[in-house]
Amino acid sequence: MRTIYLNAGTMVHFADTDSIDEKQLFGPGKAIIVEGQSIANILDSQEVIQEYTLPEDTSQFQHDEVHVHDLQGQAIVPGLIDGHTHLLWAGDRSKEVAWRQEGKSYAQISEMGGGIGHTVSQTRKASTDQLLELGYLRLRDALRTGTTHLEAKTGYGLTTESELRLLEIAAKLNHIEHTPTIESTWMGAHDIPKEVHRDAYIESLHSEQLPAVLEQGLARSVDVFCEPGWFSLEESEDILRAGRQGGLAMRMHIDEFNDGGGGELAAELGVETADHAYHTPMKARINMKEAGVNTGFLPGTPYAMGDSWPDLAPLLEHEIPFTLASDFNPNCYTLSLPFMCSLMVQRCGLHPLSALAAVTVNAARATQHPSGMVHGQLMEGAVANFNIVDGQNWESMMLRPSSSPFSGTVLNGHYISQ
Ligand code: NIG
Ligand code: FE
Repeated sequence: MRTIYLNAGTMVHFADTDSIDEKQLFGPGKAIIVEGQSIANILDSQEVIQEYTLPEDTSQFQHDEVHVHDLQGQAIVPGLIDGHTHLLWAGDRSKEVAWRQEGKSYAQISEMGGGIGHTVSQTRKASTDQLLELGYLRLRDALRTGTTHLEAKTGYGLTTESELRLLEIAAKLNHIEHTPTIESTWMGAHDIPKEVHRDAYIESLHSEQLPAVLEQGLARSVDVFCEPGWFSLEESEDILRAGRQGGLAMRMHIDEFNDGGGGELAAELGVETADHAYHTPMKARINMKEAGVNTGFLPGTPYAMGDSWPDLAPLLEHEIPFTLASDFNPNCYTLSLPFMCSLMVQRCGLHPLSALAAVTVNAARATQHPSGMVHGQLMEGAVANFNIVDGQNWESMMLRPSSSPFSGTVLNGHYISQ
């Protein structure tokens, strides 16, 4: 079965070069031919009309093997990729807003019984069916704003059994059709559970949790909350190295509240992505770049927590490679990547094309589509994941932080109306 998406407006494909400029765009008039799950070709619409002898009114075209979808000049962008989410948890932390307004820090809120520890107890209490339902609704929400693939961390179980359960739930969700695909990250090192001594917990991560996660075989990556007050540089390094030894890709949470040296460790280990990174010094950023480490900015976190925005000028000057992701979690209750783009474009002065690259082609380098196919780019042989913008200008997706900027999404070759 082929579907021809005819008469596209401007198409941002990110297929040609590494530079983020007009070479990444096709002008209006292209057609995307989708066959099964992948893009068979991108051609001029006129060529396709002749080849398939399409009538002027394509709604009159009837064929068993070929469908035609006239885009009528709507712009096209690749499917969006969210490289950092805490997808699966239960409960509610909205009381913490008032505590923050009273001046309580993230660490103080955790000591008061809120924070990650609170969500851990709510998540452990939730049934598997409740977590499946929450996960499904969240995936639908992400799809509504154009996400076609996302990374999902565990880290609200913090026992071997409950961490494995979260990985199983993510794997079940990944088999549901017409929702974004998921890749899982084991984040047993998200916090120290209240009922266990710190040293005993860290020991059990090595002796019990990680071996069980590797045997289960559902996680692609390992992540650690490397931050003063959570996991030290030494503890983080040990866990990451052990994960790598077991074949996992490495990810890190670094320098969210302070410069804890996480950037230098990320560079030394050559992790795939080091995220938050708000307080990372420039020297560490340059070392990360040289080591091929992505920086994952999570603008929803400063938005929700009332922190300041990153200063992009030195990053752009040194061409530091970065992605944008949602960091969906109980404090940052949004899976909208257009909203993340809007924050960076409208609050931090990021160019719209750089924002789009950060949630597509760049994000693809720090994630893996389960099919093994290219994603984040529109070209022959890539997975057929793309968004149809509700309008002629692709840039309008940067200016729609609430409603979906898309009229439709093609997800693994299937058209879904938004
Ligand atoms: O990336 N900082 C660590 N983890 C999450 C937040 C977790 C939570 O507060 O529940 C984050 O922001
Ligand atoms: Fe996070």
